[in-house]
Amino acid sequence: MNVELTLNGEAVSWESEPHEFLTELLRRHGLIGTKRGCESGDCGACAVLLDGEEVPSCLVLAAQAHGHEVTTIEGLGSWERPHPIQEAFVDGTAVQCGYCTPGMVIAAKAYLDRKGGGPLSEREARELLAGHVCRCTGYVKPIAAVLRAAEALGDPRSAGEEERA
Ligand code: FES
Ligand code: FES
Repeated sequence: MNVELTLNGEAVSWESEPHEFLTELLRRHGLIGTKRGCESGDCGACAVLLDGEEVPSCLVLAAQAHGHEVTTIEGLGSWERPHPIQEAFVDGTAVQCGYCTPGMVIAAKAYLDRKGGGPLSEREARELLAGHVCRCTGYVKPIAAVLRAAEALGDPRSAGEEERA
């Protein structure tokens, strides 16, 4: 079937087999920031936004995204103009191998959008990252990065964020 969706703000139409999951559809088209991990909904590496909600793309059939809006890590920011959450992870050295990072950034984006900005409590930051497995950082720095990002996004000086999202 042809899967038509809005991907990172642009309309795309891609061929897909009925059994294909969204992770694979994205990665086949070069969006490799969405990682393949457990493929059972347990690690968070494959997280994307589906109509603004965080979902594990390994459990979403590509066909289920038909007619919907999908945002991947590539849609949040760029090298030249990173999203404040991406900046907070980099500046806070919350990235080691980086495999879990896109999923964590997506989780923070979904949560902060829903909440309408920062600041967050440490408990909230821990909870929003629950289900995101990291084998490198011990979680301390990612939690700190999420708290810093929430603060930055609550700051009127980061008002340009919406254009980047
Ligand atoms: S690969 Fe999807 S949750 Fe682990
Ligand atoms: S930074 Fe390596 S898995 Fe999280």
